[in-house]
Amino acid sequence: MWIVRDRAMSGARPRCGGDRRMTDVEWRLRVAGAADADLVAAFRCASDDRTWQVQVERFVRSNLLDWASDPRAASDDPRALLLLVADELVGVAAHEKAVLTAAGGCRVSATKLQVAALAEPWQGKCFAAGDRASDVLMSAVLTDVRHRRPPRHSHVFAVVHEENHRSLALLARYGLTEDLSRPHPRYRRVITSARRPERDPARDPAREAPRR
Ligand SMILES: CC(C)(COP(=O)(O)OP(=O)(O)OC[C@H]1O[C@@H](n2cnc3c(N)ncnc32)[C@H](O)[C@@H]1OP(=O)(O)O)[C@@H](O)C(=O)NCCC(=O)NCCS
Repeated sequence: MWIVRDRAMSGARPRCGGDRRMTDVEWRLRVAGAADADLVAAFRCASDDRTWQVQVERFVRSNLLDWASDPRAASDDPRALLLLVADELVGVAAHEKAVLTAAGGCRVSATKLQVAALAEPWQGKCFAAGDRASDVLMSAVLTDVRHRRPPRHSHVFAVVHEENHRSLALLARYGLTEDLSRPHPRYRRVITSARRPERDPARDPAREAPRR
């Protein structure tokens, strides 16, 4: 088990007012394991019946642990992370290595943010110190990406439903602002623009290489 306390939250916005503060207990982040099956199976992040929220919730509840421990995907370095306050599961985030292939065949190493979700009661909320739960989750997952050895490429991307405005706003706060080609008409693929590859995927629409 390990704890991240990275307060250098590049995308963090001003702190919340008192009415949105949830707890005085400190948060901690750790890697999910088989013993967390019951915890993740009870995770609820869908605040309504919108497809994309339900899909995220289903993925976390039913697939997250298998996704992270699939031996066939070990070379992708999949990481499933849990954000906790005491024994309460506040949020879930997961990432893995991925390769984007541009239309011209140029391959670009990247990290795919597989999921980032807060439990429904924590959405839009802050910790007692004033940090948004969403900022803590994003900052922690990006810190985890930065600390992987061998180092990951600095590009991080995510696939998000075009109407998932809260998720798109959160990702934009952390620099995932450039659009690549869509994997589906309703889903955007947004990527960081911090360091560009030799060929610009925004000009040369990319597609994600199949996982295997
Ligand atoms: C995505 C998620 C982690 C964001 O966390 P959050 O606590 O809800 O969001 P934040 O408080 O950070 O707010 C995000 C932004 O959306 C805005 N927002 C809030 N509700 C909104 C709405 N209904 N429509 C448009 N924007 C909205 C906020 O004002 C904020 O804008 P800002 O960045 O300009 O300040 C959370 O909503 C969630 O877990 N959703 C369900 C799972 C999911 O869809 N995950 C993403 C795909 S994997």
